Amino acid sequence: MKILVTGVTGQLGSEVATEFKRFGHEVIAADRQSLDFLQPAQAAAVIRLQQPDWVINCAAYTQVDKAESEPAQAFIINRDTPAQLAKAVAAYGGRLLQLSTDFVFDGAQTRPYVEDDATNPLGVYGRSKLEGEQAVQRELPGAVILRTAWVYGAHGHNFVKTMLRLATAGSPLRVVSDQRGTPTWTSDIVAAIVALVDQQASGVFHFTASGETSWHGFASAILEEAASAGFTIRTGKVEPIATTEYPTPATRPVYSVLNTDKISACLPFTIPAWRDSLKNMLQEYATCADCS
Ligand SMILES: NC(=O)c1ccc[n+]([C@@H]2O[C@H](COP(=O)([O-])OP(=O)(O)OC[C@H]3O[C@@H](n4cnc5c(N)ncnc54)[C@H](OP(=O)(O)O)[C@@H]3O)[C@@H](O)[C@H]2O)c1
Repeated sequence: MKILVTGVTGQLGSEVATEFKRFGHEVIAADRQSLDFLQPAQAAAVIRLQQPDWVINCAAYTQVDKAESEPAQAFIINRDTPAQLAKAVAAYGGRLLQLSTDFVFDGAQTRPYVEDDATNPLGVYGRSKLEGEQAVQRELPGAVILRTAWVYGAHGHNFVKTMLRLATAGSPLRVVSDQRGTPTWTSDIVAAIVALVDQQASGVFHFTASGETSWHGFASAILEEAASAGFTIRTGKVEPIATTEYPTPATRPVYSVLNTDKISACLPFTIPAWRDSLKNMLQEYATCADCS
């Protein structure tokens, strides 16, 4: 198949492109030079020209706090351009998978969110992603919307790599302990995407690792597993703090665990526990030659 992947300089897009190539597909790896999400019409023209069987849209405006002061950009990148891509894909009968986020929910629930639970994003990023989902589905009712959460991988910027950098430098760490979710490794998301494409799936799916923790629990696990993977950790314990002690421009959901029962039925593998995947990622990262 011909598969166009956007956001290939990002943590997920880079691995999605590599994996589809490994499976022998023709992959068009689109970065912002070849497909600029701030230019919706030009971006759609690229799709019309290439006519890929699938578009995997990993590009996004992902700076949750900065989005509060740059809403126009966030909405163009997360809603308007995905809608234009979906429209272009619909015109020739192609398929599209749109990545989305737990931030479409407000976190008021106390049980994991299922796909049709009511959405209520708390900030610009979540609103722009939700409106992106809706716009894509309007233009292409058979699209796949894949919501995930707390993403980390060996490539790009993320919480694991930040904690690792600080802990190897011996910096004191204070991390919020009253927001809960599920850390999710890019390699696991890629495996889920491959399965959805293989099955020509459509509709909304939630995918994360299994289990749940707080950001503090995640940070503590990173330090422990990193030490086991051979990193020299110079920071002792991570200090738990309340969200109120770490104010940010964007409000985050306090509980954003996603229920993965629906996607589990489509996957040829059992969804791994978040800590097992963390361990695997750190082992990969410890020996990775091209991970910046
Ligand atoms: N990160 C998370 O914790 C998380 C959680 C839930 C859902 N998600 C969703 O998962 C998907 C992948 O996220 P990620 O973590 O891989 O994001 P990421 O590492 O921040 O990568 C974002 C990608 O989008 C590209 N991009 C941004 N603006 C662009 C523009 N104007 N034109 C073209 N490309 C542009 C970036 O290119 P440059 O490198 O050139 O900037 C980069 O390749 C997104 O849909 C995100 O909303 C992420």
